[in-house]
Amino acid sequence: MTDRYAIIGHPVAHSKSPEIHAAFARETGQDLSYERVLAPLDAFPKAIASWRDSGAAGANVTVPFKLEAFAFATERTARALRGGAVNTLKFNGEKIIGDNSDGVGLCRDIVDNLAFPIIGKRVLLVGAGGAARGVAGALLDAAPRLLCITNRTLKKAELIVEELARGDAPHNLNALSLAALPDAQFDLIINATSASLNNSLPLVPPKCFADGCLAYDMMYGLAHTSFLLMAAGYGARAADGLGMLVEQAAESFFLWRGVRPKTAPVLAMLRRPPAPGG
Ligand code: ATR
Repeated sequence: MTDRYAIIGHPVAHSKSPEIHAAFARETGQDLSYERVLAPLDAFPKAIASWRDSGAAGANVTVPFKLEAFAFATERTARALRGGAVNTLKFNGEKIIGDNSDGVGLCRDIVDNLAFPIIGKRVLLVGAGGAARGVAGALLDAAPRLLCITNRTLKKAELIVEELARGDAPHNLNALSLAALPDAQFDLIINATSASLNNSLPLVPPKCFADGCLAYDMMYGLAHTSFLLMAAGYGARAADGLGMLVEQAAESFFLWRGVRPKTAPVLAMLRRPPAPGG
């Protein structure tokens, strides 16, 4: 019987996940289907419970439900526990396993696809909402010289740092206000704010972009975000979050199916411009 999966969120119409998982399934010969499920903003628990009760094998969960997905799981992987958010659910008999593949997806895209090793680098993570929470632990595991988290609301960045440190106070982790940034330089600057959605800009000062800096926006779209345009204007190399999307999907696929799909052909397919008239 064909195993069924879905991306559940609000909105989901724009999601590329069905296309990505269909390509993975073709390549690996896995028998599965993958669809979009729009959950009402105030009724995620009901929507995910009825998806599970319909006999589905699992789900990806996207904005704004990653915290509710965490609560829905009966067991959570270490990396899900670390960020307090879940983007992958696997239904296994009575068990509901909650995982988070966002952090590993981001790091694989940066290190493998963009050939930019994080080890020893000075990294600035801009934002302290759900998206930043999901990736901060994985970035720290990649052994940067420094991981600095900045946010419009500093308190939220400080809280992530406190939770990641768990009393250890690692020497390479701190939180800084946007106002304190002008004195610091970074090799990798990641925009994890939702500012790109309304085309507004997290104001990272020009001096922060070190020579050879990679600017990464976790958002993706047809055009570069205002953050990437600003970064390119300061001489940085700019990358959007499409590769992260494909890599996190591959990690979810691996959790569900035990098979690791190739990501490069799928990323190339998504980057290809649509055929004229197509
Ligand atoms: P997500 O799940 O996408 O991370 P979120 O939890 O609502 O969404 O977090 C949004 C993040 O974007 C926050 O870090 C927010 O900053 P605040 O914590 O100060 O609200 C940040 N953000 C949103 N719009 C922004 C803007 N115009 N400039 C700077 N930061 C912005």
